[in-house]
Amino acid sequence: NLLKKENKLSEKTISEISNIEIDDFSQVIKDLGNEETEHIKKSEILKDLKTDYIGKELYVYREVESTNTVAKFLSMHDVENGTVIISEKQTKAKGRSGKSWESPLGGVWLSIILKPDVDQSKFPMITLATGVAVAKTLEKVGVENPEIKWPNDIMINGKKVCGILTEAIAKFNTVENVIIGVGIDANLEVSQFPEELQSGTTTLKEELKREGNENLLIKIFLEEFEKISELFNHEGYETILKEWRKRSYSIGKIVEVREPFNTYYDGYVVGINKEGALIVEKIDGTLKKVISGECIIKN
Ligand code: BTN
Repeated sequence: NLLKKENKLSEKTISEISNIEIDDFSQVIKDLGNEETEHIKKSEILKDLKTDYIGKELYVYREVESTNTVAKFLSMHDVENGTVIISEKQTKAKGRSGKSWESPLGGVWLSIILKPDVDQSKFPMITLATGVAVAKTLEKVGVENPEIKWPNDIMINGKKVCGILTEAIAKFNTVENVIIGVGIDANLEVSQFPEELQSGTTTLKEELKREGNENLLIKIFLEEFEKISELFNHEGYETILKEWRKRSYSIGKIVEVREPFNTYYDGYVVGINKEGALIVEKIDGTLKKVISGECIIKN
């Protein structure tokens, strides 16, 4: 009957629900993320973690549907900028373009909550910056030449090892939370993936020919991420773009561009511009700016 005062939701009722019930629920979720886990260890990640704010608030789960979903919920319930959500497994993980994402035990599945206080037009740059942070992390653990396929697939020898899903959440007074979801196929084998994904997928374990330490990988990534997000915060976009271009898998390739609400077309990738859009030269010589969508490499 809380909902039924005069048969409508009064302001008071709404604030009662959001303050009492949901906040309690968010505490339950936070508590769960502080319980002991088996493979990914909060204490190991935090040991000597050299960041000021990324990962200082950290929740680690054994299993969730999607770390992005948990992050989205917590981002609305009193968490710090830079809060990180990690899960050993995901049962309903989200990939880009509405696809699902395989997330068995052994991978690194995490989401970062940012409260960046910037214009929405800067969001593509956050995604590009995250790709650079992942590539630098892989270099630090011994991968020789990780490359970034626009907008943000990380590739080793032409096969995907990591995907990034950025989601922006508009709050009341145009304050935005940004959820950056990162999935790295770390200690996995390609045979663990569905057959149709196997030819395009690789894992760190297979590339490095050894098991790696997931906690260390996460720690390095959080440090790299904070470094690059500082560049982002201080408008060091040129440096981010330079780092991205240096590792680009897409530039110089012929692609099929698949944008939402547009017919597909082929073109040659000339580069990325300062907004993080891909610049594609069509067969007829015209230049196109691709802001969102997929680019299927044809050569
Ligand atoms: C892609 O399609 O390439 C993006 C994949 C993003 C997967 C990560 S895993 C952690 C986070 N939680 C999710 O549900 N998705 C992202």
